[in-house]
Amino acid sequence: MPDAQTTAHIIDGKAFAAGLRARVAAEVARFRDYHQGRPGLAVVLVGEDPASQVYVRNKGKQTVEAGMESFEHKLPADTTQEQLLTLIAGLNHNDAVNGILVQLPLPGHIDAEAVIDAIDPAKDVDGFHVVNTGKLTIGADDALVPCTPLGCLMMLKDHLGDLTGARALVLGRSNIVGKPMASLLLREHCTVTIAHSRTRDLAAECARADILVAAVGRERMVKGDWIKPGATVIDVGINRIPAPEKGEGKTRLVGDVDFDAAVKVAGAITPVPGGVGPMTIACLLRNTLVAACQQHGYAKPDL
Ligand code: GUN
Repeated sequence: MPDAQTTAHIIDGKAFAAGLRARVAAEVARFRDYHQGRPGLAVVLVGEDPASQVYVRNKGKQTVEAGMESFEHKLPADTTQEQLLTLIAGLNHNDAVNGILVQLPLPGHIDAEAVIDAIDPAKDVDGFHVVNTGKLTIGADDALVPCTPLGCLMMLKDHLGDLTGARALVLGRSNIVGKPMASLLLREHCTVTIAHSRTRDLAAECARADILVAAVGRERMVKGDWIKPGATVIDVGINRIPAPEKGEGKTRLVGDVDFDAAVKVAGAITPVPGGVGPMTIACLLRNTLVAACQQHGYAKPDL
């Protein structure tokens, strides 16, 4: 008989995201029946960053597929901050627009914080405005929550059920992922640690964690032997590395976790690609519908 090699359950983010998109589409249909109008999402792209162009195209496509209205604003790289703020003011006042997303990063001459600050918090489907980060921190019900950590939390709850009392380690302290992830896990009654580049003994911190969320943007930094046996590992990293085995000049995507080693130790793990990535846009669609419902005083859809 072959050796029984234990391997982690692979959390299928692609399938989970497809399910969430279907639930959002069903709720959008209900919204349209009741409201005689559809939720609208405005996406603003400044410049020609190729990766951002792909994201924005996918957002627009999936918004329409969910039955919502998509407004795309593609502005040249030399757009001034004032011009961008004028566009946002118009979107804030446009009743057909329920959600506003300004694709990051912005060109260097534009102050991203000032731009995020100009978005109406009720339409801030990225959840980056200080009003929403504050609401998340105090556990307010109507906070719009950043999409990537929200997707991570949904997958964790789907796999583990109740997270109460679990030791969670968030690796990374960005405003987009690490900090909101920690707030969400705290809201679920986890014991939360945030580790980062200056943490003294990262391996020891990881070894204590029942839940490990890696969001540092360093390819395969988390080693298999850092992981607590049976832990649930969520890998937010999307890092492109050379893949000469696929041919000259070819590349492939890897996460922040050394998947091949981690899969032999963890209880469950998200792959890269096909893990967290597909959940981000699905959560953006969810947030747009939630924002539209909140703006009209309708009950929050159950998603
Ligand atoms: N760029 C990379 N991820 C994101 C995101 O979640 N929101 C926005 N606005 N820009 C991004």
